[in-house]
Amino acid sequence: MNGLKHVLTAKDFSFIQMLELFRTTATMKTMYQNPAHRAALRHLLVRDGVPLFFRILSDPSTRTLASFEDAIRALGGTFSTGILEFSSKAKGETHRSIARCIAPRCDGIIIRDDHDEYAAQHMRDTVEDYGLATSIICAGSGDREHPTQMLIDLFTIWERAEEKFVNGALVYALVGDLHSSRTIHSLLLGISEFGGVIFLVGPPEENIPPWIYQEIEKRRPLSISRVINPMEIADMIDFWYFTRLQDNLKFRAVSPQEKQHYAQKYGVEDTLRARMRNNAWILHPLPHGEEYPEKIDMIDPRFIHFHQADNGFFMRMALLKKIFVPSADLTLLAADTETITISGNLIDFEVIARDVNTICINPLCLNIRINGNWIHTNQNTKLRLQKRKPATICMSCYPG
Ligand code: NCD
Repeated sequence: MNGLKHVLTAKDFSFIQMLELFRTTATMKTMYQNPAHRAALRHLLVRDGVPLFFRILSDPSTRTLASFEDAIRALGGTFSTGILEFSSKAKGETHRSIARCIAPRCDGIIIRDDHDEYAAQHMRDTVEDYGLATSIICAGSGDREHPTQMLIDLFTIWERAEEKFVNGALVYALVGDLHSSRTIHSLLLGISEFGGVIFLVGPPEENIPPWIYQEIEKRRPLSISRVINPMEIADMIDFWYFTRLQDNLKFRAVSPQEKQHYAQKYGVEDTLRARMRNNAWILHPLPHGEEYPEKIDMIDPRFIHFHQADNGFFMRMALLKKIFVPSADLTLLAADTETITISGNLIDFEVIARDVNTICINPLCLNIRINGNWIHTNQNTKLRLQKRKPATICMSCYPG
């Protein structure tokens, strides 16, 4: 995925790019369990000794902000978070002006605007117009799209059912606020790269926006049907995706009664739960309202929304790596944390692979450079290091 600079829409990711990203996410997850690898990851977002710096601008959010912040921190970058309602946007400043002011001194801007679906695009246009290197990452654009949530959702599906998913053989039910759920919109675009059968379950008077249908038509075959009652399809569904009523994204007041009615119709109650397949999985981008009983995951392991939320951290680490250090090799980074035994002429000793700077390419010379000093070693040590260390001609060969 070399060359990815901005993330504005789910359309920015092809089938191949997503698979590549899923593998990187899985590697991030494994590495994070190992304390030495976790420490090594903290060097990833550091350029010439300086941590990359991110500005996060957002409308109120918990998971998305926290997982972006945690991911940046885990990779050694730094950030500053500002809530939009307390920023100059409240005084009427445009995204273009904000971007021009802050972009020159940061490597990335992560922007979530609940009311302006083109906020990220305007910022992208601005940095490009001014020839700035800053990346713009959309973390939610009005009620239009949520591309990074789409990556998290698809990664969670890929983890559970890779083969069927990649072959477009899964059946999905996307339930709830079809019109305003930006996560449903982006998920549909994402699934359309892989194919599958989709049932949209939601209020009969509402539907997903026409532009999404038009986009999907350009992609893989996707069978989409509307359903009013989820009971009708329960025994067919591999993955359920529930959403809350998106009251914060609607340009009208939503009454508590409306929310309650919605939760009853498009939520999970016991009869539906009993009808769902034993091997089905149930996702939700969170936060859930009354459509989900609070502790449902503790009584029914098919509900994996917290696992899905945990994946957000690893997916965002993978995404940051792809954008900012695409050529960094995580396998080498992990290998660099290994302790290796150096067999010298007199004694054997141990070093962390990371401390080995270079090895000599002269076949007659067995020197390696460790923390700035040339050390004589044996052929075995040199061969073990050869693949992963830069080569040079050592000073013993050319003492002058
Ligand atoms: C979603 C969002 O903001 O669109 N949440 C999230 O990013 N975790 C879904 C929602 O708010 O319902």
